[in-house]
Amino acid sequence: MPRSPGKIFRDGLTSTATTLVEALTIPQTNDDTAETLTHPFHTYPARLHPATAKVLVELVGEGAKANQPIVDPFCGSGTVLVEARAAGHRAIGIDLNPLAVLVARAKTWTVPPRRRTALKNTAHEIFGTVLAAGKAARRAGAAPAPMRKPTGFDPNARNRRLARWFAPHVRRELETIATEIENRRADDPQMADVLLASLSAILYKVSSRSSDTDGTWVERNVARGNAARLFLQRVELLVAGLEDLSRQHGPLPEVFELDTRRMGEVVPEGTAAGIVTSPPYAGTYDYAEHQRLRFDFFGLRHRDLDAGELGSRRAFEADPPEAYREWKKSLSESIDTISRALAPKRAAALVVGDSMVHGRALYAMDDLRDALTSDLVIEAWASQERPMMGTAERHAFGARPKAEHIIVLRRT
Ligand SMILES: C[S@@+](CC[C@H](N)C(=O)[O-])C[C@H]1O[C@@H](n2cnc3c(N)ncnc32)[C@H](O)[C@@H]1O
Repeated sequence: MPRSPGKIFRDGLTSTATTLVEALTIPQTNDDTAETLTHPFHTYPARLHPATAKVLVELVGEGAKANQPIVDPFCGSGTVLVEARAAGHRAIGIDLNPLAVLVARAKTWTVPPRRRTALKNTAHEIFGTVLAAGKAARRAGAAPAPMRKPTGFDPNARNRRLARWFAPHVRRELETIATEIENRRADDPQMADVLLASLSAILYKVSSRSSDTDGTWVERNVARGNAARLFLQRVELLVAGLEDLSRQHGPLPEVFELDTRRMGEVVPEGTAAGIVTSPPYAGTYDYAEHQRLRFDFFGLRHRDLDAGELGSRRAFEADPPEAYREWKKSLSESIDTISRALAPKRAAALVVGDSMVHGRALYAMDDLRDALTSDLVIEAWASQERPMMGTAERHAFGARPKAEHIIVLRRT
């Protein structure tokens, strides 16, 4: 969410609308929440601001029964799940992106203290092994450490793709860390995934990719041993955040790699205490592309995301009218699954944003209203104007401003 202030509009039940205005504007005044718990662990495109998530979880979670979950059906890196867990709720997350699932699970890994100690100790062990392997490799005549060959990935094609993004010594170091993690998988698969998420958190920082959302090549000088050091620091940051998150008693959140339209398979009808989510903005991001380098490095399968990602930029670029029709259809299906999941009288808070595709403004609230089912009523909404990015956007939006919105829907 951008942090710039903009004009605010609101309507509906006064108490709810007032809370929604707070949720929209809090990122402009509150820097602290984003630095707490496990929020700073891993970057993610279009991440919900943690302070907004906190306000919305409080709103929809009020009066929830002990075992009724708070659900985020587009959970991304798990911001809502962290806040729901911090408030002591049962939390369920769903996302079609395997990388999002890996990260969200790591950020909510509220296991007993001895498991966190073991995680930290393992990271120290791996750090030591990787530094020793680096020294050994620099001795005259030493054979270089072998590259991993994730199953289902053509090793030559994978090597060609990765060679462009990492200096050779960095790549070797990353491969050795990943090999050390995989060597421990049979003993402790959950911990192996948390370690992989920690490696993922530093992967772009030691690569020549600018950022998650910017795929341009940049020169980066990474000293020997630095990737291993950053990895260790990232595990320590995670462990500290998990310690804070575990202070509140509550069950371990569940995160599923699934298309939200199949939510009924993991959230039985009429059982959710509340839903807080931020669905993709139409034609704005390309979650599959943003994580391509990570998918290649870790050997993560992403065919389902490539095919089922809602509102992706690549779909809108390929065939805008068809993509818009598909977007409206998939939004209706998603809202339908949300209404089925909610317990009677419980609420969903949705954060959505206007976008521009091929010179045309897409108004998120209009699309959402069209998608509503008869058993959901709009309790309140709040919108805040967002700055236009350049003349094309000014032209597309004209007199009706571009905005970000939060809407609360209540099940009848
Ligand atoms: C705006 S992001 C959510 C960010 C999240 N709130 C956070 O704080 O990290 C939208 C998410 O929707 C996911 N997504 C897109 N299509 C999906 C689908 N069909 N089913 C489930 N998740 C999907 C994307 O992978 C992305 O993680």
